[in-house]
Amino acid sequence: MERPFPTVAVVGLGTMGAGVAVAVAKSGRRVIGIEATEDSAARALARIEEATAHAVDRERLTAEERAGLLARISVGHELAAAAGADLVIEEVPEQLELKREVFAELDRICPQTTVLATGTTALSVTRIAAATSRPDRVLGLHFFNPVHTMKLVEVVRTVLTSPRTAEDAAEFARDLGKEPVAAGDRAGFVVNGLLFAYLNQAAAMFESKYASREDIDAAMRLGCGLPMGPLALLDLIGVDTARTVLEAMYEQSRDRLHAPAPILGQLVAAGLLGRKSGRGFYTYEAPGSSRAVDAATGPGLPKVPGREVRSVGVCGSGTMATGIAEVFAKAGHPVLLAARSQEKAERAKAQLAKSLERSVAKGRLTDEQRDAALALVTPVGRYAELADVDLVVEAVAEDLAVKRELFATLDKIVKPGAVLATTTSSLPVISCATATTRPQDVIGMHFFNPAPAMKLVEVVSTVLTSPDVTATVLELTAKVRKHPVECGDRAGFIVNALLFPYLNDAVRMLQEHYATVDDIDTAMKLGCGYPMGPFELLDVVGLDVSLTIEQVLHQEFREPGLAAAPLLEHLVAAGCLGRKTGRGFRDHARR
Ligand SMILES: NC(=O)c1ccc[n+]([C@@H]2O[C@H](COP(=O)([O-])OP(=O)(O)OC[C@H]3O[C@@H](n4cnc5c(N)ncnc54)[C@H](O)[C@@H]3O)[C@@H](O)[C@H]2O)c1
Repeated sequence: MERPFPTVAVVGLGTMGAGVAVAVAKSGRRVIGIEATEDSAARALARIEEATAHAVDRERLTAEERAGLLARISVGHELAAAAGADLVIEEVPEQLELKREVFAELDRICPQTTVLATGTTALSVTRIAAATSRPDRVLGLHFFNPVHTMKLVEVVRTVLTSPRTAEDAAEFARDLGKEPVAAGDRAGFVVNGLLFAYLNQAAAMFESKYASREDIDAAMRLGCGLPMGPLALLDLIGVDTARTVLEAMYEQSRDRLHAPAPILGQLVAAGLLGRKSGRGFYTYEAPGSSRAVDAATGPGLPKVPGREVRSVGVCGSGTMATGIAEVFAKAGHPVLLAARSQEKAERAKAQLAKSLERSVAKGRLTDEQRDAALALVTPVGRYAELADVDLVVEAVAEDLAVKRELFATLDKIVKPGAVLATTTSSLPVISCATATTRPQDVIGMHFFNPAPAMKLVEVVSTVLTSPDVTATVLELTAKVRKHPVECGDRAGFIVNALLFPYLNDAVRMLQEHYATVDDIDTAMKLGCGYPMGPFELLDVVGLDVSLTIEQVLHQEFREPGLAAAPLLEHLVAAGCLGRKTGRGFRDHARR
């Protein structure tokens, strides 16, 4: 097949345009670069020369390749030069009227066969196409910044874009070494549509003082493996840009979760736009710098001294209980691993031994460390044995009646002054606390699965938790080499409250036939550097577990946008629960 679009014009050679021009020239195509004025054209050419020289220094390009590439790029300031192109990519500033003017002009200049693409992030491609007499040959080509490293391109079709135009554009993107995903004309397309709603919730969470800036960011990095926390990312993207994208999304969706959090407007009004202005959610060394200077370096220090914790009791015999027991034993704490029978407890210890063995095999643990950790774990078949421990962490079934019964039992057994912790993900910690006569000693310690590997622990204080109990758990968590973040006792804590609405939005996108499972997963992995796409993650977590968390969140906040997507409910009703049943959003059985 012939390579599509041998000659490409790029209009607007700023951040995106310059990157796109280089990527296109690198593919061997001729590039006609067009800027607004003679001066800006000269500056743009200098930027392109500098960027490609930098690529040679970094060995991403040889000197010969650079020379060839530059020879294929011409830069001028006459839009009429676009007449010689097969494809025009517009990358002028994000203003609808400006883009419509450029398109109307291009429509007059270019032959009817020329395809016109806009690089818009949040404007309506359809409205831009309407400024031309060839809406069937107009589409969006949404590249990501920096263009040379980001592989994703969203190919945006309006209702009028011809299939052929979209196919050629996708083929063109592939030929540049990019990965195209198909999207319809909706504010934010796939990536920003999912990303910005989540960023907005993080900003709102910070604004409500539910958790600190550092804790929100650390929770999402360590709890979900995201490359950056949401508030640091907002600073990188630009608070003003984020607000504009959210405004556009809200205008189309009328979903309150897309209405920009008031804090974003306040920051913009104050000129605190993020890294580029030297201050946003964080303060940076200088405008444009990536070094935050006022970020606390570690988890916040407790304000009151904590209690002494030596011995630990862990209740339960499942994955979490075993993992949590391993964490404490490896850090040198004697652990009583308590299950409903001696046999169950022994089996849990055997699981723990296997996990330690795997760490030895991977070279993460020495034989001596394994033996020492194992020697600290005593399996017990009766909770009565927990009388003298300093801390109990329960990780039994996620069922309030079961947990309340256990807490009532522990209340009768465990010595006064001991800390009682629950690792629940979705039940109120206070309901466990009120099953005891000492609610001040009860706290949430939300570990993540697998506990030995995941660094994050959400430390959840209720309205009755005593400050020295919070301090105890914060100190202890850091001592066992985990990263504690502090939050209050409300549904979802930090991570799930930000993660699951995003997963639900992805399901809604699929349900509305806006994009496919594969395209959405690819888009989020390549566009945001996420370790897994939303559907991969849902299939791993389990659709039933996800649905429960979404229902709990909706029940707590009563936000219409948090209602679980019907498609998720249907799949759960059909028994498609994800990997564990062989089928969820994907069919795992056939692979
Ligand atoms: N920056 C990003 O991270 C990013 C990512 C994806 C998409 N986008 C989108 O890409 C587009 C370009 O954004 P940017 O960040 O590169 O902006 P920018 O301000 O860096 O660059 C815009 C360039 O267009 C030039 N220009 C202005 N009017 C012009 C005209 N009439 N004719 C020719 N050139 C003109 C300007 O001189 C400037 O060099 C926007 O629609 C933006 O939303 C940006």
